[in-house]
Amino acid sequence: MSASGALAHKHIVLGLSGGVACYKAADLARELVKAGATVQVVMTDAACRFITPVTMQALTNHPVYASQWDGREPNHMPHINLSREASAIVVAPASADFIAQLAQGRADELLSLLCLARPIERVPLLVAPAMNREMWAHPATQRNVAQVRADGTTVLGPAAGDQACGEIGDGRMLEAEELRDELIAFFQPKVLAGRDVLVTAGPTFEAIDPVRGITNHSSGKMGFAIARAAAEAGARVTLVAGPVHLATPRGVRRIDVTSAEQMLAAVLPEATLHEIFVATAAVADWRPAQAAGQKIKKDGSGQAPTLAFVENPDILATVAKLPPGDRPFCVGFAAESHDIVRHARDKLARKGVPLIVANNGPATFGRDDNALVLVDAAGERELPPGDKLSLARALVAEIALRCPRRAA
Ligand code: CTP
Repeated sequence: MSASGALAHKHIVLGLSGGVACYKAADLARELVKAGATVQVVMTDAACRFITPVTMQALTNHPVYASQWDGREPNHMPHINLSREASAIVVAPASADFIAQLAQGRADELLSLLCLARPIERVPLLVAPAMNREMWAHPATQRNVAQVRADGTTVLGPAAGDQACGEIGDGRMLEAEELRDELIAFFQPKVLAGRDVLVTAGPTFEAIDPVRGITNHSSGKMGFAIARAAAEAGARVTLVAGPVHLATPRGVRRIDVTSAEQMLAAVLPEATLHEIFVATAAVADWRPAQAAGQKIKKDGSGQAPTLAFVENPDILATVAKLPPGDRPFCVGFAAESHDIVRHARDKLARKGVPLIVANNGPATFGRDDNALVLVDAAGERELPPGDKLSLARALVAEIALRCPRRAA
Protein backbone atom coordinates (compact mmCIF):
# COMPACT_ATOMS: atom_id res chain seq x y z
CA MET A 1 0.00 0.00 0.00
CA SER A 2 1.40 3.40 -0.93
CA ALA A 3 2.90 5.43 1.92
CA SER A 4 3.06 8.59 -0.17
CA GLY A 5 2.23 11.66 1.92
CA ALA A 6 1.73 9.62 5.10
CA LEU A 7 4.55 11.53 6.83
CA ALA A 8 3.85 14.95 5.32
CA HIS A 9 4.75 17.81 7.71
CA LYS A 10 6.80 15.46 9.91
CA HIS A 11 10.39 16.34 10.64
CA ILE A 12 12.33 13.23 11.59
CA VAL A 13 15.75 13.23 13.18
CA LEU A 14 17.19 9.94 11.99
CA GLY A 15 20.05 8.80 14.21
CA LEU A 16 22.53 6.13 13.17
CA SER A 17 24.72 4.36 15.70
CA GLY A 18 27.38 1.83 14.73
CA GLY A 19 26.38 -1.44 13.09
CA VAL A 20 26.22 -3.25 9.78
CA ALA A 21 22.53 -2.37 9.63
CA CYS A 22 23.60 1.21 8.77
CA TYR A 23 23.22 0.13 5.16
CA LYS A 24 19.48 -0.30 5.79
CA ALA A 25 19.32 3.19 7.29
CA ALA A 26 20.09 4.58 3.84
CA ASP A 27 16.96 2.89 2.51
CA LEU A 28 14.99 4.03 5.54
CA ALA A 29 16.00 7.66 4.92
CA ARG A 30 14.75 7.29 1.37
CA GLU A 31 11.46 5.72 2.45
CA LEU A 32 10.84 8.49 4.97
CA VAL A 33 11.53 11.17 2.38
CA LYS A 34 9.25 9.41 -0.11
CA ALA A 35 6.52 9.33 2.55
CA GLY A 36 6.74 13.13 2.76
CA ALA A 37 8.94 13.65 5.84
CA THR A 38 11.92 15.95 6.07
CA VAL A 39 14.82 13.97 7.45
CA GLN A 40 17.79 15.26 9.41
CA VAL A 41 20.49 12.62 9.86
CA VAL A 42 22.73 12.50 12.92
CA MET A 43 25.49 9.88 13.01
CA THR A 44 27.83 8.59 15.69
CA ASP A 45 31.54 8.12 14.95
CA ALA A 46 30.99 4.37 14.73
CA ALA A 47 28.13 4.81 12.24
CA CYS A 48 30.45 6.88 10.00
CA ARG A 49 32.72 3.83 9.75
CA PHE A 50 29.88 1.76 8.28
CA ILE A 51 28.33 4.28 5.88
CA THR A 52 29.41 7.76 4.87
CA PRO A 53 27.59 10.99 5.73
CA VAL A 54 27.84 11.78 2.00
CA THR A 55 25.35 9.02 1.18
CA MET A 56 22.95 10.11 3.91
CA GLN A 57 23.20 13.77 2.90
CA ALA A 58 22.51 12.94 -0.74
CA LEU A 59 19.46 10.85 0.17
CA THR A 60 17.95 13.41 2.55
CA ASN A 61 19.08 16.62 0.92
CA HIS A 62 20.25 17.90 4.31
CA PRO A 63 23.77 18.16 5.72
CA VAL A 64 24.51 15.42 8.23
CA TYR A 65 25.57 16.16 11.82
CA ALA A 66 28.12 13.90 13.48
CA SER A 67 29.70 15.98 16.24
CA GLN A 68 28.54 18.13 19.13
CA TRP A 69 31.41 20.46 18.23
CA ASP A 70 29.95 21.13 14.77
CA GLY A 71 30.39 24.85 14.20
CA ARG A 72 27.66 25.23 11.57
CA GLU A 73 25.00 26.10 14.14
CA PRO A 74 25.30 29.83 15.00
CA ASN A 75 24.69 29.17 18.71
CA HIS A 76 26.99 26.11 18.60
CA MET A 77 24.26 23.97 20.12
CA PRO A 78 23.25 21.35 17.54
CA HIS A 79 21.91 19.08 20.33
CA ILE A 80 19.37 21.74 21.31
CA ASN A 81 18.46 23.01 17.84
CA LEU A 82 18.07 19.59 16.24
CA SER A 83 16.01 18.11 19.04
CA ARG A 84 13.63 21.09 19.34
CA GLU A 85 12.66 20.91 15.66
CA ALA A 86 11.90 17.17 15.58
CA SER A 87 8.47 15.52 15.34
CA ALA A 88 10.31 12.37 16.48
CA ILE A 89 13.83 11.04 16.86
CA VAL A 90 14.34 7.59 15.32
CA VAL A 91 17.59 5.77 16.02
CA ALA A 92 18.11 3.04 13.43
CA PRO A 93 20.29 1.12 13.91
CA ALA A 94 20.44 1.35 17.69
CA SER A 95 23.48 -0.65 18.82
CA ALA A 96 23.75 -2.42 22.17
CA ASP A 97 26.21 0.27 23.26
CA PHE A 98 23.88 3.08 22.19
CA ILE A 99 20.95 1.57 24.10
CA ALA A 100 23.24 1.27 27.14
CA GLN A 101 24.06 4.98 26.79
CA LEU A 102 20.36 5.85 26.63
CA ALA A 103 19.60 3.68 29.66
CA GLN A 104 22.26 5.51 31.67
CA GLY A 105 21.41 8.97 30.37
CA ARG A 106 24.92 9.44 29.00
CA ALA A 107 25.78 12.17 26.53
CA ASP A 108 29.18 11.23 25.10
CA GLU A 109 28.30 11.99 21.47
CA LEU A 110 25.93 14.33 19.67
CA LEU A 111 23.32 11.59 19.11
CA SER A 112 23.05 10.47 22.74
CA LEU A 113 23.33 14.09 23.83
CA LEU A 114 20.40 15.21 21.73
CA CYS A 115 18.28 12.23 22.87
CA LEU A 116 18.91 13.34 26.45
CA ALA A 117 18.37 17.01 25.66
CA ARG A 118 15.08 16.52 23.82
CA PRO A 119 11.87 17.81 25.40
CA ILE A 120 10.71 14.35 26.52
CA GLU A 121 6.95 15.16 26.57
CA ARG A 122 6.94 16.62 23.07
CA VAL A 123 9.59 14.76 21.06
CA PRO A 124 9.15 10.98 21.10
CA LEU A 125 12.15 8.68 20.77
CA LEU A 126 11.97 5.43 18.80
CA VAL A 127 14.86 2.99 18.55
CA ALA A 128 15.37 0.04 16.20
CA PRO A 129 17.87 -2.33 17.82
CA ALA A 130 20.37 -4.12 15.58
CA MET A 131 22.95 -6.48 17.00
CA ASN A 132 24.18 -10.04 17.25
CA ARG A 133 21.68 -12.39 18.92
CA GLU A 134 23.95 -13.07 21.91
CA MET A 135 24.32 -9.34 22.50
CA TRP A 136 20.55 -8.89 22.29
CA ALA A 137 19.86 -11.80 24.64
CA HIS A 138 22.50 -10.71 27.17
CA PRO A 139 20.93 -9.78 30.51
CA ALA A 140 22.70 -6.40 30.43
CA THR A 141 21.08 -5.51 27.08
CA GLN A 142 17.68 -6.79 28.19
CA ARG A 143 17.99 -4.73 31.37
CA ASN A 144 18.89 -1.65 29.34
CA VAL A 145 16.03 -2.20 26.88
CA ALA A 146 13.57 -2.56 29.78
CA GLN A 147 14.95 0.68 31.23
CA VAL A 148 14.65 2.71 28.00
CA ARG A 149 11.09 1.38 27.58
CA ALA A 150 10.28 2.42 31.13
CA ASP A 151 11.66 5.86 30.25
CA GLY A 152 9.06 6.13 27.47
CA THR A 153 11.13 5.08 24.45
CA THR A 154 9.41 2.98 21.78
CA VAL A 155 11.44 -0.08 20.78
CA LEU A 156 10.79 -1.25 17.22
CA GLY A 157 11.65 -4.92 16.71
CA PRO A 158 14.17 -6.44 16.50
CA ALA A 159 13.32 -9.20 14.06
CA ALA A 160 14.65 -12.73 14.03
CA GLY A 161 16.58 -14.18 11.10
CA ASP A 162 19.94 -14.41 9.37
CA GLN A 163 22.55 -12.10 10.87
CA ALA A 164 25.55 -10.46 9.22
CA CYS A 165 27.81 -12.54 11.49
CA GLY A 166 26.38 -15.73 9.98
CA GLU A 167 24.36 -16.67 13.07
CA ILE A 168 20.58 -16.92 13.12
CA GLY A 169 18.39 -15.42 15.84
CA ASP A 170 16.85 -12.29 17.36
CA GLY A 171 18.61 -8.98 16.81
CA ARG A 172 18.15 -8.13 13.13
CA MET A 173 17.01 -4.59 12.50
CA LEU A 174 13.54 -4.36 10.95
CA GLU A 175 13.55 -3.66 7.22
CA ALA A 176 13.30 -0.06 6.02
CA GLU A 177 9.67 -0.37 4.87
CA GLU A 178 8.67 -2.00 8.16
CA LEU A 179 10.29 0.82 10.12
CA ARG A 180 8.60 3.41 7.90
CA ASP A 181 5.21 1.77 8.53
CA GLU A 182 5.90 1.57 12.27
CA LEU A 183 6.58 5.29 12.25
CA ILE A 184 3.45 6.06 10.24
CA ALA A 185 1.47 3.94 12.72
CA PHE A 186 3.13 5.70 15.65
CA PHE A 187 1.70 9.04 14.54
CA GLN A 188 -1.90 7.78 14.17
CA PRO A 189 -4.33 8.76 16.94
CA LYS A 190 -4.81 5.80 19.33
CA VAL A 191 -8.61 5.88 19.14
CA LEU A 192 -8.93 2.10 19.61
CA ALA A 193 -6.19 1.64 22.22
CA GLY A 194 -6.57 -1.71 23.94
CA ARG A 195 -9.73 -2.69 22.01
CA ASP A 196 -10.14 -6.02 20.20
CA VAL A 197 -11.20 -5.84 16.56
CA LEU A 198 -12.16 -8.74 14.29
CA VAL A 199 -12.17 -8.19 10.52
CA THR A 200 -13.20 -10.45 7.63
CA ALA A 201 -11.69 -9.69 4.24
CA GLY A 202 -11.40 -10.91 0.68
CA PRO A 203 -13.58 -13.23 -1.35
CA THR A 204 -14.50 -16.79 -0.49
CA PHE A 205 -13.90 -19.69 -2.85
CA GLU A 206 -16.57 -22.37 -3.11
CA ALA A 207 -15.30 -25.61 -4.60
CA ILE A 208 -17.11 -27.30 -7.47
CA ASP A 209 -14.51 -30.06 -7.68
CA PRO A 210 -10.81 -30.28 -6.71
CA VAL A 211 -9.72 -27.95 -9.54
CA ARG A 212 -12.64 -25.53 -9.98
CA GLY A 213 -14.78 -23.28 -7.92
CA ILE A 214 -16.76 -20.05 -7.81
CA THR A 215 -15.44 -16.86 -6.34
CA ASN A 216 -15.60 -13.10 -7.00
CA HIS A 217 -13.38 -10.12 -7.76
CA SER A 218 -12.87 -8.89 -4.19
CA SER A 219 -9.15 -8.21 -3.66
CA GLY A 220 -9.32 -7.93 0.14
CA LYS A 221 -7.59 -4.54 0.02
CA MET A 222 -10.30 -2.63 1.92
CA GLY A 223 -10.45 -5.24 4.70
CA PHE A 224 -6.68 -5.38 5.00
CA ALA A 225 -6.56 -1.58 5.12
CA ILE A 226 -9.13 -1.61 7.94
CA ALA A 227 -7.14 -4.24 9.84
CA ARG A 228 -4.02 -2.09 9.46
CA ALA A 229 -5.81 1.13 10.43
CA ALA A 230 -7.32 -0.53 13.52
CA ALA A 231 -3.88 -1.85 14.55
CA GLU A 232 -2.36 1.61 13.98
CA ALA A 233 -5.11 3.00 16.22
CA GLY A 234 -3.92 0.74 19.03
CA ALA A 235 -6.32 -2.22 18.67
CA ARG A 236 -5.47 -5.91 18.88
CA VAL A 237 -6.65 -7.12 15.49
CA THR A 238 -7.63 -10.55 14.18
CA LEU A 239 -8.07 -10.76 10.42
CA VAL A 240 -9.96 -13.69 8.89
CA ALA A 241 -8.93 -13.65 5.25
CA GLY A 242 -10.30 -15.46 2.25
CA PRO A 243 -7.92 -16.40 -0.58
CA VAL A 244 -5.98 -13.20 -1.37
CA HIS A 245 -2.39 -12.35 -2.15
CA LEU A 246 -1.81 -9.56 0.34
CA ALA A 247 0.81 -9.16 3.05
CA THR A 248 -0.46 -9.31 6.61
CA PRO A 249 -0.39 -5.83 8.18
CA ARG A 250 2.21 -5.60 10.96
CA GLY A 251 0.98 -6.68 14.36
CA VAL A 252 -2.21 -8.25 12.98
CA ARG A 253 -3.13 -11.88 13.73
CA ARG A 254 -4.30 -13.55 10.54
CA ILE A 255 -6.42 -16.66 10.03
CA ASP A 256 -6.62 -17.87 6.42
CA VAL A 257 -9.76 -19.59 5.18
CA THR A 258 -11.12 -20.57 1.80
CA SER A 259 -14.89 -21.09 1.86
CA ALA A 260 -17.78 -19.26 3.52
CA GLU A 261 -18.36 -22.19 5.88
CA GLN A 262 -14.71 -22.09 6.94
CA MET A 263 -14.96 -18.33 7.42
CA LEU A 264 -18.00 -18.76 9.68
CA ALA A 265 -16.22 -21.52 11.65
CA ALA A 266 -13.20 -19.24 12.13
CA VAL A 267 -15.25 -16.14 13.01
CA LEU A 268 -17.77 -17.56 15.49
CA PRO A 269 -15.39 -18.53 18.33
CA GLU A 270 -13.48 -15.26 17.83
CA ALA A 271 -16.55 -13.00 17.67
CA THR A 272 -17.35 -13.30 21.36
CA LEU A 273 -13.74 -12.38 22.22
CA HIS A 274 -13.77 -9.15 20.21
CA GLU A 275 -15.59 -5.89 20.90
CA ILE A 276 -15.82 -4.80 17.30
CA PHE A 277 -16.54 -6.88 14.19
CA VAL A 278 -16.03 -5.38 10.74
CA ALA A 279 -17.29 -7.67 7.96
CA THR A 280 -15.73 -6.57 4.70
CA ALA A 281 -15.50 -10.03 3.13
CA ALA A 282 -17.33 -10.55 -0.14
CA VAL A 283 -18.76 -13.88 0.97
CA ALA A 284 -20.12 -16.01 -1.88
CA ASP A 285 -23.89 -16.14 -1.50
CA TRP A 286 -24.16 -19.71 -2.72
CA ARG A 287 -21.98 -22.80 -2.91
CA PRO A 288 -22.35 -25.97 -4.95
CA ALA A 289 -24.60 -28.32 -2.97
CA GLN A 290 -21.96 -31.02 -3.29
CA ALA A 291 -18.31 -30.50 -4.20
CA ALA A 292 -17.27 -33.43 -6.42
CA GLY A 293 -14.43 -35.49 -4.93
CA GLN A 294 -12.79 -35.84 -8.33
CA LYS A 295 -12.45 -33.49 -11.29
CA ILE A 296 -15.70 -33.45 -13.28
CA LYS A 297 -14.82 -34.68 -16.79
CA LYS A 298 -16.59 -33.93 -20.07
CA ASP A 299 -18.58 -37.02 -20.95
CA GLY A 300 -18.50 -36.40 -24.72
CA SER A 301 -22.26 -35.74 -24.92
CA GLY A 302 -21.79 -31.98 -25.38
CA GLN A 303 -24.02 -31.44 -22.31
CA ALA A 304 -22.76 -29.25 -19.45
CA PRO A 305 -23.18 -30.78 -15.99
CA THR A 306 -26.04 -29.42 -13.90
CA LEU A 307 -24.87 -27.87 -10.68
CA ALA A 308 -27.19 -27.47 -7.70
CA PHE A 309 -26.45 -24.63 -5.27
CA VAL A 310 -27.27 -24.03 -1.63
CA GLU A 311 -27.17 -20.72 0.19
CA ASN A 312 -24.15 -19.98 2.36
CA PRO A 313 -24.53 -18.94 6.00
CA ASP A 314 -24.68 -15.18 6.54
CA ILE A 315 -21.66 -14.61 8.78
CA LEU A 316 -22.44 -11.00 9.69
CA ALA A 317 -26.11 -11.72 10.47
CA THR A 318 -25.12 -14.74 12.57
CA VAL A 319 -22.69 -12.69 14.65
CA ALA A 320 -25.23 -9.85 14.96
CA LYS A 321 -27.69 -12.35 16.52
CA LEU A 322 -25.33 -13.42 19.31
CA PRO A 323 -26.65 -12.61 22.82
CA PRO A 324 -25.96 -8.98 23.77
CA GLY A 325 -23.12 -9.78 26.23
CA ASP A 326 -21.26 -11.82 23.59
CA ARG A 327 -22.07 -9.69 20.58
CA PRO A 328 -19.45 -7.32 19.21
CA PHE A 329 -20.37 -3.96 17.71
CA CYS A 330 -21.06 -5.10 14.14
CA VAL A 331 -20.15 -3.13 11.04
CA GLY A 332 -21.26 -4.47 7.66
CA PHE A 333 -20.16 -3.51 4.18
CA ALA A 334 -22.49 -3.29 1.23
CA ALA A 335 -20.97 -3.59 -2.20
CA GLU A 336 -23.67 -2.39 -4.57
CA SER A 337 -23.80 -1.54 -8.23
CA HIS A 338 -26.84 0.81 -8.04
CA ASP A 339 -29.20 2.51 -5.52
CA ILE A 340 -26.33 2.26 -3.07
CA VAL A 341 -27.87 3.97 -0.05
CA ARG A 342 -31.30 2.31 -0.41
CA HIS A 343 -29.74 -1.16 -0.55
CA ALA A 344 -27.44 -0.32 2.37
CA ARG A 345 -30.41 0.74 4.47
CA ASP A 346 -32.17 -2.54 3.62
CA LYS A 347 -29.10 -4.43 4.78
CA LEU A 348 -28.92 -2.46 8.01
CA ALA A 349 -32.38 -3.79 8.92
CA ARG A 350 -31.98 -7.27 7.40
CA LYS A 351 -28.67 -7.99 9.12
CA GLY A 352 -29.61 -6.28 12.39
CA VAL A 353 -26.38 -4.25 12.61
CA PRO A 354 -25.86 -0.67 13.84
CA LEU A 355 -23.69 0.46 10.90
CA ILE A 356 -23.42 -0.38 7.20
CA VAL A 357 -20.64 1.04 5.05
CA ALA A 358 -21.77 1.24 1.48
CA ASN A 359 -19.60 1.41 -1.60
CA ASN A 360 -19.82 0.89 -5.29
CA GLY A 361 -18.58 -2.69 -5.66
CA PRO A 362 -17.73 -2.87 -9.38
CA ALA A 363 -15.99 0.55 -9.20
CA THR A 364 -13.76 -0.40 -6.28
CA PHE A 365 -12.91 -4.12 -6.49
CA GLY A 366 -9.15 -4.48 -6.88
CA ARG A 367 -8.47 -0.75 -6.88
CA ASP A 368 -6.52 1.28 -4.33
CA ASP A 369 -9.07 4.04 -3.95
CA ASN A 370 -12.69 4.02 -2.91
CA ALA A 371 -15.60 6.18 -1.74
CA LEU A 372 -17.69 5.20 1.29
CA VAL A 373 -21.10 6.17 2.65
CA LEU A 374 -21.87 5.39 6.29
CA VAL A 375 -25.50 4.41 6.80
CA ASP A 376 -26.98 4.06 10.28
CA ALA A 377 -30.12 4.87 12.26
CA ALA A 378 -29.12 8.55 12.42
CA GLY A 379 -28.77 9.02 8.65
CA GLU A 380 -26.06 8.94 6.02
CA ARG A 381 -22.56 10.33 6.07
CA GLU A 382 -20.19 10.35 3.13
CA LEU A 383 -16.47 9.92 3.70
CA PRO A 384 -14.55 11.91 1.11
CA PRO A 385 -13.13 9.68 -1.65
CA GLY A 386 -9.52 8.66 -1.15
CA ASP A 387 -7.11 5.78 -1.02
CA LYS A 388 -8.35 2.76 0.91
CA LEU A 389 -5.95 3.25 3.83
CA SER A 390 -7.00 6.87 4.39
CA LEU A 391 -10.65 5.83 4.21
CA ALA A 392 -9.96 2.94 6.58
CA ARG A 393 -8.43 5.38 9.10
CA ALA A 394 -11.45 7.69 8.80
CA LEU A 395 -13.78 4.71 9.24
CA VAL A 396 -11.87 3.48 12.29
CA ALA A 397 -12.31 6.94 13.84
CA GLU A 398 -16.08 6.79 13.13
CA ILE A 399 -16.33 3.31 14.63
CA ALA A 400 -14.43 4.42 17.74
CA LEU A 401 -16.91 7.28 18.19
CA ARG A 402 -19.93 4.98 17.88
CA CYS A 403 -18.78 1.93 19.75
CA PRO A 404 -19.11 2.08 23.50
CA ARG A 405 -16.70 -0.04 25.53
CA ARG A 406 -18.21 -3.29 26.73
CA ALA A 407 -18.83 -3.38 30.46
CA ALA A 408 -16.09 -5.44 32.11
N1 CTP B 1 -21.89 -11.09 4.56
C1 CTP B 1 -21.57 -12.15 5.37
N2 CTP B 1 -21.93 -13.41 5.02
C2 CTP B 1 -22.58 -13.64 3.86
C3 CTP B 1 -22.91 -12.57 3.01
C4 CTP B 1 -22.53 -11.30 3.39
O1 CTP B 1 -20.96 -11.92 6.43
N3 CTP B 1 -22.91 -14.88 3.55
C5 CTP B 1 -21.54 -9.73 4.98
C6 CTP B 1 -20.51 -9.05 4.14
O2 CTP B 1 -19.21 -9.27 4.68
C7 CTP B 1 -20.92 -7.60 4.23
C8 CTP B 1 -22.42 -7.65 4.35
O3 CTP B 1 -22.72 -8.96 4.84
O4 CTP B 1 -20.45 -6.99 5.40
C9 CTP B 1 -23.17 -7.42 3.08
O5 CTP B 1 -22.65 -8.22 2.04
P1 CTP B 1 -23.25 -8.15 0.58
O6 CTP B 1 -22.61 -9.20 -0.25
O7 CTP B 1 -23.22 -6.74 0.11
O8 CTP B 1 -24.76 -8.49 0.87
P2 CTP B 1 -25.59 -9.80 0.79
O9 CTP B 1 -26.09 -10.11 2.15
O10 CTP B 1 -24.83 -10.88 0.14
O11 CTP B 1 -26.82 -9.31 -0.10
P3 CTP B 1 -26.95 -9.12 -1.72
O12 CTP B 1 -26.03 -10.14 -2.32
O13 CTP B 1 -28.37 -9.35 -1.95
O14 CTP B 1 -26.52 -7.72 -2.01
